[in-house]
Amino acid sequence: MYKLNPEALKAYLNNNNLEIKFYKEIDSTNNEAKKIFNEKPLLIIANKQTAGRGRQGHSFFSPNGLYFSYVLPFKEYPLLTLSVGIAIAQAFRKQGISIKLKWVNDIIYKDRKLGGILCEHHQDALIIGVGLNIYPTVFPEALKDKAISLDKTIDSNLLLVAIINELYILFNMTPQQLIELWKEANWTLNKEIQFTYNNEILSGKAIDIALNGSLIIATTKGLINLDSGEIL
Ligand code: BTN
Repeated sequence: MYKLNPEALKAYLNNNNLEIKFYKEIDSTNNEAKKIFNEKPLLIIANKQTAGRGRQGHSFFSPNGLYFSYVLPFKEYPLLTLSVGIAIAQAFRKQGISIKLKWVNDIIYKDRKLGGILCEHHQDALIIGVGLNIYPTVFPEALKDKAISLDKTIDSNLLLVAIINELYILFNMTPQQLIELWKEANWTLNKEIQFTYNNEILSGKAIDIALNGSLIIATTKGLINLDSGEIL
């Protein structure tokens, strides 16, 4: 099994100014980012999180994998979460692994959740949090049918570097280009889905992604543009 090696990471990264902090175990790399960010780009990596967080207040099971926060001075990047997903899918593809993207922040492998993305804004920091269960993992009963860990060996240094380097390319793309790329790895479109909307559970067919990144769903009540809800 390849393990992360900060020296190897530094050697591969295009950004030499990046400070890298590596933890065997931490509560949450996103929480740590909020505590220690100080203007300079920062990469916080952990092998295990004891209080990993997901979107919508969910916890994120993070026992043994690649969990990191890439922290930059705050700036608005359009379609950020979708861009991070694209970067992840492309980085896995470089190692021969096919990853799909479930709107808006889930990373799907073999139709199950391999990981997720949690982007946050805290004071002057933009925190891009990514969790990927890339090592063999035994999931608790409640997650067993939905979650998966990778069943192949990959080079986690190369994976992480490819995600970050790819992000810089995506940051310069237009929303149209990003949506086209996202659709290449799409897992959600053309599926019947259930989703939460205004505190209700609704269902419909996911038909497209709008230019602002929202998911367009055809329901019996008409088209719904979902921008902050959750797909179940
Ligand atoms: C989700 O599935 O809703 C998003 C999960 C995001 C998990 C990553 S792991 C690194 C970073 N630190 C956290 O506490 N969460 C993100």
